Amino acid sequence: MPFVCICFWLKSDYMKHEGFKVTPWEVKGDIDYEKLTREFGVRHIDDKTLRDLEKFTGELHYFLKRKIFFAHMYFDEILDEAKNGGKLYLYTGRAPSGPVHLGHLVPWLFTKWLQDKFGATLLFQIPDEEKFLFKDNLTFDDTKKWAHENILDIIATGFDPRKTKVFLDTEYAGHMYKTACAVAKKTTLSKLKSLFGFGDSNNVGEFFYTCMQSVPAFLPTTMEGTPTKCLIPCAIDQDVHFRLTRDVAPQIGFPKPATILSRFLPGLTEGGKMSSSIENTAIFTTDDEKTVRNKISKYAFSGGRENAEEHRKKGGVPEADVSYQYLTYFMEDSTKLKKIYEDYGSGKMLTGELKQITSEVINDFLSEHQKKREAARDRVDDFKICD
Ligand code: TRP
Repeated sequence: MPFVCICFWLKSDYMKHEGFKVTPWEVKGDIDYEKLTREFGVRHIDDKTLRDLEKFTGELHYFLKRKIFFAHMYFDEILDEAKNGGKLYLYTGRAPSGPVHLGHLVPWLFTKWLQDKFGATLLFQIPDEEKFLFKDNLTFDDTKKWAHENILDIIATGFDPRKTKVFLDTEYAGHMYKTACAVAKKTTLSKLKSLFGFGDSNNVGEFFYTCMQSVPAFLPTTMEGTPTKCLIPCAIDQDVHFRLTRDVAPQIGFPKPATILSRFLPGLTEGGKMSSSIENTAIFTTDDEKTVRNKISKYAFSGGRENAEEHRKKGGVPEADVSYQYLTYFMEDSTKLKKIYEDYGSGKMLTGELKQITSEVINDFLSEHQKKREAARDRVDDFKICD
């Protein structure tokens, strides 16, 4: 459903079009990824890059084959570095403002695969100040509490404890602050206004925040004492932060970070992305089997027809069906997925059955995740670093 962007956004060069909206703080509407790629000035991951990657890794993650990770900046340089046996770091993050849902896990699962394939150290930033600064109703006590809950999900994703460092900004700021100031010194107000659509009523913490999110991209170089490349896997809404990071990098003597960017896992009821703030659009990692089944059966937007008879005659529309979309993220077996696509599209499979399959796939995934999440309670110290 098209909607008109409010004037606030028309002022920024970040979002000029109508119909959808992608910012680090809000994702809405029917997202045109083609348009987004052009506007953000990032590249598609082309077939040659995929072939080169496959040569190095031996296989391709299905997120790449299905174009869930679809865009990048400088990923080719990362690949060259890996081929030459150079040292690489990965960096991703999570602002702790609530429970983790399936959408958050998408970049993390991919990051874990990259860590395995590249043997890279991962820096995992938990900017506990971000949501404190951007949301009216969150205190530092709240964000700290969520940080500790969210760390369990991070650990449950399966990262290598010997190669993963997780930190809260407020607990690691001593190591970050000088570099954040170096970024700040090269960052003008007018640039932030145009990149983020900020105005005079935004607080100064919001203006400063991107400097903190930039720092972990430079930590590999600081930690190694020599220029070291860093790859940031994340959803495409974060790209704007790293556009700034890339601009500033050469001015302060650091290599530009590379990014590899994903689409959003859609929310249950609508397009856009899964969001914790609208409860019924999200499946949380702590949801039990029954909750998952209920949410999918009640809320998952269906690409099916009015009634069974119509559906059998005309077939469903898998592309529009949220349950089917979830399978593309969580069903690894491409042969099975293809069969479902065909059966649903031809009308042989009804919405109820598709929802049932999706619930099972997600519940299988979550029951494993939840076991690992519980076990993670004793492992936090193996991952966390502090000043
Ligand atoms: N800003 C991100 C969020 O809102 C958190 C984050 C910090 C992040 N550093 C990152 C995300 C690096 C991806 C990559 O959740």
